[in-house]
Amino acid sequence: MKYSAVLTTVATLAAQVVATSVSGTAEGFASSVTGGGSATAVYPTSTDELVSYLGDDEERVIVLNTTFDFRETEGTSTDTGCTPWGTGSACQIAINKDDWCTNYQPDAATTSITYDNAGSLGITVNSNKSLIGEGSKGVIKGKGLRMVSGVENIIIQNIAVTDINPQYVWGGDGITINDADLIWVDHVTTARIGRQHYVLGTEADNRVTLSNNYINGESDWSATCDGHHYWNVYLDGSSDKVTMKGNYFYKTSGRAPKVQSNTYLHAVNNFWYSNTNHAFEIGEGGYVLAEGNTFQDVTAPVESSSFAGELFSSSSDSSTCSSYIGRSCVANSFTNSGDLSGSTADVLSKFKGETVADADAASTSPSTSAGQGNL
Ligand SMILES: *[C@@H]1O[C@H](CO)[C@@H](O)[C@H](O)[C@H]1NC(C)=O
Ligand SMILES: *[C@@H]1O[C@H](CO)[C@@H](O)[C@H](O)[C@H]1NC(C)=O
Repeated sequence: MKYSAVLTTVATLAAQVVATSVSGTAEGFASSVTGGGSATAVYPTSTDELVSYLGDDEERVIVLNTTFDFRETEGTSTDTGCTPWGTGSACQIAINKDDWCTNYQPDAATTSITYDNAGSLGITVNSNKSLIGEGSKGVIKGKGLRMVSGVENIIIQNIAVTDINPQYVWGGDGITINDADLIWVDHVTTARIGRQHYVLGTEADNRVTLSNNYINGESDWSATCDGHHYWNVYLDGSSDKVTMKGNYFYKTSGRAPKVQSNTYLHAVNNFWYSNTNHAFEIGEGGYVLAEGNTFQDVTAPVESSSFAGELFSSSSDSSTCSSYIGRSCVANSFTNSGDLSGSTADVLSKFKGETVADADAASTSPSTSAGQGNL
């Protein structure tokens, strides 16, 4: 065999190896996650098979090399929705889920809507799973992923979750975590989602790392009626430690993220670009350490009117951090954006003795490194 042919063969084998195992390891709180470990990879070929692999009791590495489109697999519903954000064609409409319109928006105009049932509830993901995509081929459309009821040790990497009733609030969430531990979501693209791209529910979610994800908020419908999605990352909880590193928030307008209820959040090296309203919303019990982040064209990096939590935001390389996390914090940077200031050292005390992700010197921007297909 010629030398060049040998190289090609080696490269092909290497590509295959990459596709059947998780790439890299989690940083920060979920750093001990192993997912499906070294289980033999399985390749689902239908939506039913994907649901079965994700929900069974086996330790699994599940590789997606095609699109799994759940739209119309569970039928549609025609119902009366409401329009609390206006009746313009760029505004989202709310489904009357659990009588939300009737109870909370009695004055909003109503309108007849038809939405896809599959979006309403995500696919159940059981413990000890790695769900990974090959190249940029692994796509789940019309239904999200749901890690709840005590599951643990799950890795989701290099896939896209898209097109979940984007016109309708309450049409479905992308990634749901509630009552779980050791969850790592990495290089995942979410786009055109009706409700939250990510939601961590009111129960304890323990150790979670969200890294290198592309939260693409561009949509024809939004609650701010301006092509920017409002419901992005909602970190509720009761005992949650979340590392958010290297994520790219594009065209958002709120809850990016919303943090509250005994949630420690380390937000590092993330990039927000084009946000027409607010990025952070920090409610009571939200403890946020924000460093090494970049804000470009962000109206309000933090929403001030509802601020009720604690924030340490590094505006210059801050050595205050050293006695808590063993290194200086890295400054955030702002271009054509509002301010993010907070110097509450109590936040840092929450991170003392924890596994804290490093802050990288800005080399690659998340706008080119985050999301599916950029491993
Ligand atoms: C996915 O990969 C499996 C295992 O290599 C292969 O059998 C299958 O044909 C592939 N499917 C597609 C759509 O590429
Ligand atoms: C996950 O794997 C661990 C280690 O093998 C095992 O102890 C645990 O029972 C598994 N959990 C489930 C729900 O299968």
